[in-house]
Amino acid sequence: MSSLMPVRFTPFDLDAMAQAEGRVAILIPADGKMSPAARRANRLTKGGIARLVESERFSKVKSGDVISLAWPAGMEAEALDILVLPRRPNFDEARKAGANLAKLSAGKSVLVMAANHARIEELALGMVLRAYDFDVHKTKESDPLGEIVIGHSKPEEAEATFAPLYAVADGVRMTRDLTNEPANVLTTTEFADRLVEMESLGLKVEVLEEDKLAELGMRTLLSVGQGSVSPSKVVVMQWDGGDKDDAPLALVGKGVVFDTGGISLKPAGGMEDMTMDMGGAGVVAGTMRALAKRKAKANVVGLVGLVENMPSGNASRPGDVVKSMKGDTVEIINTDAEGRLVLCDVMWYAQDRFQPVGMIDLATLTGAVIIGLGHENAGVFSNNDTFCDAFLKSAKAEDEGAWRLPLGEGYDKQLKSRIADMKNVGGRPAGSITAAQFLQRFVKEETPWIHLDIAGVASVSSETAYAPKGATGWGVRALSRFVQDNFETTGE
Ligand code: BES
Ligand code: MN
Ligand code: ZN
Repeated sequence: MSSLMPVRFTPFDLDAMAQAEGRVAILIPADGKMSPAARRANRLTKGGIARLVESERFSKVKSGDVISLAWPAGMEAEALDILVLPRRPNFDEARKAGANLAKLSAGKSVLVMAANHARIEELALGMVLRAYDFDVHKTKESDPLGEIVIGHSKPEEAEATFAPLYAVADGVRMTRDLTNEPANVLTTTEFADRLVEMESLGLKVEVLEEDKLAELGMRTLLSVGQGSVSPSKVVVMQWDGGDKDDAPLALVGKGVVFDTGGISLKPAGGMEDMTMDMGGAGVVAGTMRALAKRKAKANVVGLVGLVENMPSGNASRPGDVVKSMKGDTVEIINTDAEGRLVLCDVMWYAQDRFQPVGMIDLATLTGAVIIGLGHENAGVFSNNDTFCDAFLKSAKAEDEGAWRLPLGEGYDKQLKSRIADMKNVGGRPAGSITAAQFLQRFVKEETPWIHLDIAGVASVSSETAYAPKGATGWGVRALSRFVQDNFETTGE
């Protein structure tokens, strides 16, 4: 497990600046107007800040830029970071500025001289998100993790505002850890164990083992895992923070801990990336963690299907016909289109057991969504415009790319099978849409539903604004906000 950088709010104290060790950051708007902290830094550095502000370099700065003075004269600090930020930044500006600062300080302690600057809690969130580093498998001792100290005029108030944001950051951290973890470490059993640990946060967690899944009739899910020595599992997490009688929102995640493609084996090049094929389940886990840690006043259930897709003498074959929990039969044309076989049973079970007010599934489902949308947007599919628009709004507010794609009868026809109720692939055209069509066959008409194809956004090969290379944790922030804005009870 990686650790989240600790954040502490302390009373704003100009006199602490000269002696502070590590890095010290001050905030200056692009117009160069100096706050008391900037003026103090200017005095300590004998006019260094004034010269910077008047320089040619400063006339070109944008919000979020950081200019560092190393080993500044007159201060104990090893660096004085001048962060360019307007007095009233919007959410994104504040978070991105924080992320830039954290990238520069690389896990070292920073004292941010914030005073009463607006949106400092958002800046701290940006810092914590960007300070993530998955180094658990590097044997060389890394430097001990520093802390983020925010000098604030109202430290208690800021701390209280920040607490739920830090809860979300911890959810994002969990999602990233799970998604980055290699498949020999994160087996289905290890994954389930890590979810059971979340009982300590007040979540109810149940692990359904293979015998139970067989009894429930989840044969499409079991067919995917049957070639692996790791047992298939479904884990059910429940957060009951809302009114007792309110039906929950259901989150369902694809948790293929490794996807070789099965008998329809994938090519060797890049196959190692398929350790992230449990990314959907990772987002569900991280979101449940965030909701529990910030004690969300809503009922939410999170279900994940954990399987490993391996070729073996016991693996399912192209041409096999299996029966889903719903009762519909599926002809498996391609064993590499396994995610939908896992999800359809878990989605059916979620609706059958919980009659949710809405259901959102997340899956690294198709390579085709990467061709269509790249790594900027997840593919969004829905049977309900109101439900979908509300989610898109939350995703936008959190700056998590999400783009709706269509569904339709014409696409659904591509799934016709000669010998079963449907086949598991619809051919090359519109591969992400036919995958979504397959899932929709397992959504009850009365259930508002969103399918998020996160194959392009769950893990990326270059850094993003808020994450280093690798797992991004895409979706945890959007889903936490979606729950907050649409399902949390505001009454006492
Ligand atoms: N896990 C893959 C999709 C994927 C591809 C995720 C690249 C992340 C990055 C999925 O199980 C898969 O193999 N899909 C096939 C479907 C095809 C056989 C219809 C694909 O996209 O090629
Ligand atoms: Mn596959
Ligand atoms: Zn897969």
